Amino acid sequence: MNPWAEDFPILNQKMNGKRLVYLDNAATSQRPLPVIRAVDEFYRTQNANPHRGLYELSVKATQRYEDARSAVRKFIGAGEDCEVIFTRNASESLNLVAYSYGMTFLREGDEIALPVSEHHSNLVPWQMVAKAKGAKLVYLYPDRDGRLTDEEIDAKITKRTKLVAVAHVSNVLGSVYPVRKIADRAHAAGAVVVADCAQSVPHRRVNVQELGADFMAFSGHKMMAPMGIGVLYGRKELLEKMPPFLRGGEMIEYVHEQDSTFAPLPQKFEAGTQNVGGAVGLEAAIRYLEGVGYDRIQKTENELLNYTLDGLAEIPHVVVYGGTRNRENRGGVISFNVEGVHPHDVASILDADGIAVRAGHHCAQPLMDYLCVNSTCRASFYFYNTKEDADAFLESLRKVRGWLGLGA
Ligand SMILES: Cc1ncc(COP(=O)(O)O)c(C=O)c1O
Repeated sequence: MNPWAEDFPILNQKMNGKRLVYLDNAATSQRPLPVIRAVDEFYRTQNANPHRGLYELSVKATQRYEDARSAVRKFIGAGEDCEVIFTRNASESLNLVAYSYGMTFLREGDEIALPVSEHHSNLVPWQMVAKAKGAKLVYLYPDRDGRLTDEEIDAKITKRTKLVAVAHVSNVLGSVYPVRKIADRAHAAGAVVVADCAQSVPHRRVNVQELGADFMAFSGHKMMAPMGIGVLYGRKELLEKMPPFLRGGEMIEYVHEQDSTFAPLPQKFEAGTQNVGGAVGLEAAIRYLEGVGYDRIQKTENELLNYTLDGLAEIPHVVVYGGTRNRENRGGVISFNVEGVHPHDVASILDADGIAVRAGHHCAQPLMDYLCVNSTCRASFYFYNTKEDADAFLESLRKVRGWLGLGA
């Protein structure tokens, strides 16, 4: 019996007549009842437009929103609430930095260094900046175990580098990149560091002081919060000198016919009516996650990872991408292919057994090119997955080639 079953009603369903085995947590997690209830309660009793009304209900909504900001600040170890900007998701957070910091401070000839494995959300915005400003993208290539070696870091981050964009955990390889080491190297070279923590914050403690990055982005929906709420952390002194990203209501100080002045942080970066229900849900998700505890999350995911990688090694014709040796320092993400079978067919066959995995390029096409594949399947765990889930996945995968009339 799954100990989390009561909290996650969505998992107690059948898909195609079989028990749902949800292994697409890197795409989005499921939400537990305490998060669903917190959002429900907000809309039942506290909903109003924050920061606008002088009436009690609006004051309450504002309080809930700002309490959520403080909860995020504590959760990630930021120094001040104003360093926490609410966005829609990690993509918007990263675009904010690209449009506001990148387009303002990068110059012709500057280099932007980034691993080739970056999610498109931390790659395409930098392509835009590079094109607009005449800057150059310089890629770091992971080794066969999915690691960024010291030599690669030293070779690619130089005094020409002005910005380094790096995921903390790769959404395809599962690699945990050494953001602290990269940040130290980047800072010594005079560059700023943007860490994409979309795949790390839900699974391992991220303290922005220890991480060493100047900016850090993540999405609520991958850590049990509602969709449509995300976070950008930025160092205050950088955020203060950056221009607004989006303009309009809420983010101004005074508007004249020809010009405007802007609100202080964080409102300068929060134009328009905000997703207060999402922020309330994010605060509830943080509470829930901390109740489970990162130690338990890491232990469960690592056990599932080891068990599944061992199981996969026994199935002929399965190729796993990324590090299978460096298992301690790896997220619970397994990208793989079955030789001779298109990943979409693999995913469809697993779906017939109620197993949800992702198939495609995982928004990492430059990495697919580097790995010389068009696409892969991906199974990704969260703490509420069980050994039974891993067994169901392995058993279904064993049948794939047979189903298609290919040799075992
Ligand atoms: C590493 C990484 N970065 C960024 C994103 C983008 O997240 P969102 O779609 O929530 O903006 C994802 C989503 O899968 C991701 O895995």
